Amino acid sequence: MKALKDYFRNQFLIGAAVNQSTIDTDQELLNKHFNSITAENEMKFEEIHPEPNQYNFEIADKFMQFAEDNGIGLRGHTLVWHNQTPDWFFVDNKGNDVGRTELLRRMKEHIDTVVKRYKGRIYAWDVVNEAVEDHGEQIYRQSKWLTIIGEDFIDYAFRYAHEADPDALLFYNDYNESNPVKREKIYQLVKGMLDRGVPIHGVGLQAHWSLYHPTYGEIEAALKRYAELGLTLHITEMDVSVYAFDDKRTDLTEPSKEMLFLQAERYDRFFELFNRYAEHISSVTFWGVRDSYTWLNDFPVRGRKNWPFLLDANGQPKPAYDHIITKK
Ligand code: XIL
Repeated sequence: MKALKDYFRNQFLIGAAVNQSTIDTDQELLNKHFNSITAENEMKFEEIHPEPNQYNFEIADKFMQFAEDNGIGLRGHTLVWHNQTPDWFFVDNKGNDVGRTELLRRMKEHIDTVVKRYKGRIYAWDVVNEAVEDHGEQIYRQSKWLTIIGEDFIDYAFRYAHEADPDALLFYNDYNESNPVKREKIYQLVKGMLDRGVPIHGVGLQAHWSLYHPTYGEIEAALKRYAELGLTLHITEMDVSVYAFDDKRTDLTEPSKEMLFLQAERYDRFFELFNRYAEHISSVTFWGVRDSYTWLNDFPVRGRKNWPFLLDANGQPKPAYDHIITKK
């Protein structure tokens, strides 16, 4: 079996999200198929900076070391996000929200400390994650970052990250890229940043998709629109869930043949699009390694298992794998 990364060698990097467990159990598969990794949680704020003045780099260092020892790239994920960021970061010792100047100072300190530690070694950072509101007219998602600092928290985050590591590619990363309204909000956000001279180098499409959603047309429209920005695109967290998001079933212990076939067709068509836009896409990362573990087990439906990857629970190619490589 030829390795995934070799099939796409001339198009884009092939990545996998890793965690504390898979970094040990899946070393062989990682080395074989992938030339990029992302920490699933371990470089997020609450993990790497759990208390004021306390950084926890042990696991992130281990991922970095594994990547470097094996000639694999590392994508940094993520510096500024509304989730998995501890409450203390936004308040003073009386429990009141800090002011704009103080939060910017804290943001700079966090970004400086984390980004400089891996300076010249992490090839791309998701600097700001999911800052755009999904629905309605509002552009920015409600968060402490927004209410305390204001809309320019995004510009500041990128400026600080760029100062800390001028060689790292800096990304704005988000999901629901298929939704035309959100897609346009993201486009306008990034366009505005470019017009203001903010150092941003790429747009990340998370690509949490399923057997039924989104349509190929919606994804093509997103790739086309983002490509107009003239920045590189990364597919950052791909999975093709065998369920729709709101399907409540929990009784399936393994996917049916039909499901696997449909999944193969979905992957096939998505990769056809990636190939078509390969000039703009430089990295495609799956949000896990193989079907034995995925964050989609239990999410968003408790007790529901999922099988979203190209490799089955044993690390063997699924129909989806065969489809995308034979059609290439
Ligand atoms: C997820 C992880 O996979 C889970 O383990 C964790 O409990 C929650 O976060 N968008 C992102 C990722 O940018 O960081 C999220 O990762 C999935 C959605």
